[in-house]
Amino acid sequence: MAISLFANHKKGILNRCRDDYATKMRLKYAPYYLAMEAQKDTTVRLDGRDMIMLSSNDYLGLSFHPKVIEAANAATRKWGTSTNGARSSNGSRTFHVELEEKLAAFLGQEACHVHAAGYLSVMTSMATFAQKGDVILADKNLHSCLWDGIQVSRATVERFSHNSPDDLREILIAANSSAAKMLVIEGVYSMEGHIARLPELTAIGQEYGCFTVLDDAHGFGVLGRQGRGTTDHFGLNSKVDVICGSLSKSLASTGGYVAGSRDVIEYLRTNSKQTIFSAAISAGQAAAAMAALELMQTEPQHLERLWANTKKYKALLKQLGLDTWESETPAVPIVLGSKERVYPFWRNLLDKGVFTVMSIAPAVPAGKDLIRTAISALHTDEQLEKIAAAMAYAVKKL
Ligand SMILES: Cc1ncc(COP(=O)(O)O)c(C=O)c1O
Repeated sequence: MAISLFANHKKGILNRCRDDYATKMRLKYAPYYLAMEAQKDTTVRLDGRDMIMLSSNDYLGLSFHPKVIEAANAATRKWGTSTNGARSSNGSRTFHVELEEKLAAFLGQEACHVHAAGYLSVMTSMATFAQKGDVILADKNLHSCLWDGIQVSRATVERFSHNSPDDLREILIAANSSAAKMLVIEGVYSMEGHIARLPELTAIGQEYGCFTVLDDAHGFGVLGRQGRGTTDHFGLNSKVDVICGSLSKSLASTGGYVAGSRDVIEYLRTNSKQTIFSAAISAGQAAAAMAALELMQTEPQHLERLWANTKKYKALLKQLGLDTWESETPAVPIVLGSKERVYPFWRNLLDKGVFTVMSIAPAVPAGKDLIRTAISALHTDEQLEKIAAAMAYAVKKL
């Protein structure tokens, strides 16, 4: 009797997996998890065909830079492939400390901690610093890792309209609460390509005594002097308490970082479960990020090329009358408004040799179903011409 009861419990979960509508649709149309057979720079091979990668986050194109590859290889030869443990126990190495010191200095912060994924770094920036009883003021369009961290923190959350200082103020006035407050924003919104209205938002945050956390995964390497990010772009380093982000975009590696004052980072090292109980990044990952960070400061041509390419790309999309949601950065959405329009558009681009990613509601707000594209410093003029032709074809087929 007891055994059959347990069997039923298990069946509920197994049926849920088997009958899940979203999974069935994903497997039917197969737009995600496409495994590429080869890659060199912005060219990938899929099903035996070479295509232009138009949705990577390798903004500066450093993933294939010889110095980055050599640094990762040399570090792997020296230290092995894994740290096999958490920083708090057996996984700490001098290369972690070196990377953290260099990142902190670059970001104009006192200290920094590095994790095995940007997702972990960003999530823990909510989960560690906010707690039950606090109020988190969150932009409605935040990335999933921030929402996860907010949920884990158990703080009360108040959402304000995307990038709207007016709405933030109204919500703070209505909340009329003496609880500790955290303001959470992204520097550059990954889907929209919008730059945070940092001067206005941080001014309100300061007025209401908010501890401010900025996820700059897509601003780092793209904005500010030498790619120092969104706070540097506005000259507002001192107005943000925590800057977190990813090593997997401009830094050509895998992992994430949290930077702030020494007190804040030491508190994180003591209290963050995501830090204490997760293995440290490998030597190869750390060395790749360190080499990329060095190149950001010694080879300005990558950042220049990124913005020159972005300008050309946006001009060609504008000529075709495509809606780019007023993107201000190399992360450029093509908003088509419904999944029925997005899927064929994506498919047509793929047929013409351009790889992009679909994002449909609820991953984006209803009516904003889009194709996510992102420009890299490595896109060549010839590739941009091919992209223009593919876009024109997809528009004609709409
Ligand atoms: C805004 C934002 N924050 C955090 C992350 C997580 O970074 P990672 O992919 O390195 O885990 C992403 C990933 O795309 C992101 O877009």
